[in-house]
Amino acid sequence: MTHKITLTQFIIEQQRDLADVSGTFTLLLTNIVMACKQIAHQVNRGNLIGVLGSADTENIQGEVQKKLDIISHDIMVRALNWTGQLAGMASEEADEIIDIPLQYPKGKYLVLFDPLDGSSNIDINLSVGSIFSILRCDAAAEPTVADFLRKGSEQVCAGFVIYGPATMLVLTTGHGVNGFTLDQAIGEFILTHPSITIPEATQEFAINMSNYRHWEAPVRRYVDECLQGKEGVRGKDFNMRWIASMVAEVYRILMRGGVFLYPYDLRDPSKPGRLRLLYEANPMALIIEQAGGACSTGRKRMLDVQPESLHQRVPVMLGSKQEVERLIHYHQMS
Ligand code: AHG
Ligand code: MN
Ligand code: MN
Repeated sequence: MTHKITLTQFIIEQQRDLADVSGTFTLLLTNIVMACKQIAHQVNRGNLIGVLGSADTENIQGEVQKKLDIISHDIMVRALNWTGQLAGMASEEADEIIDIPLQYPKGKYLVLFDPLDGSSNIDINLSVGSIFSILRCDAAAEPTVADFLRKGSEQVCAGFVIYGPATMLVLTTGHGVNGFTLDQAIGEFILTHPSITIPEATQEFAINMSNYRHWEAPVRRYVDECLQGKEGVRGKDFNMRWIASMVAEVYRILMRGGVFLYPYDLRDPSKPGRLRLLYEANPMALIIEQAGGACSTGRKRMLDVQPESLHQRVPVMLGSKQEVERLIHYHQMS
């Protein structure tokens, strides 16, 4: 039998080679992954345990929450607040930062997460996922919002779990990107996709075309040129995908290249994009860059954006480097 490398073995061996890390980080990651396994279990059982459908509540962003948004959020918080590894947490589904209960010790990390991404897909049995980002926290006392508002380049780890036909974890600690598949029989994530790199050449783009009339000129130009196919300036035909689940789109791009766009649009000036900088854009940007791709707002490298608020939204363009660079170029020309 070939030796299977579990996530735990992989992390311990990887961290052993790094000077400034302790076992705390490995434990933290193990706890995040444990929470994701619990979420996977809930997602997988679906209506058998009555977890589908709307919760009839709204989050701070005015989005109607699904029952599973709240369940996933609660699982994350309960799996992490007692561990002693965290100074605080922030979640897409919580208005304010989440303090560590007084009875537990505090640690030196902050975790930010989107507990259930793509939750509009949950009732139609399509892939959803969880996204997380880890920062170091130097605050001596209780962390404040300011401690969370750090550039994506400061993340020490980012990852996502996709609850699809297989449950998979994609992870970076700033030393490349690795993919693991949950072996349900033994309850362990197994390294199945070592050193993931995004294929350079691509003929696939992902964007919600129904927003075309709201986009700015550079994005329209890019998409128009893709649609012109062989007869246009790109000289090749493109294929389009839109799953409405960022985890699934990013996973596809990691596997076979392409570009994913949720650009700035003119629908609502108070929302400079759909996706959230701290819970979605930053962790995905670190993963994509570590896999050799690029992630930009169109005007700035995502990891260099200085966050101004906890639930801030940003335009997102990520994937194969050449495509993202073309989009940046079109923005610079406008
Ligand atoms: P969430 O379910 O966490 O709110 O995120 C959904 C996001 C993202 O996953 C997806 O790419 C996008 O919203 C889909 O938006 P549209 O429904 O506007 O296409
Ligand atoms: Mn999301
Ligand atoms: Mn979500």
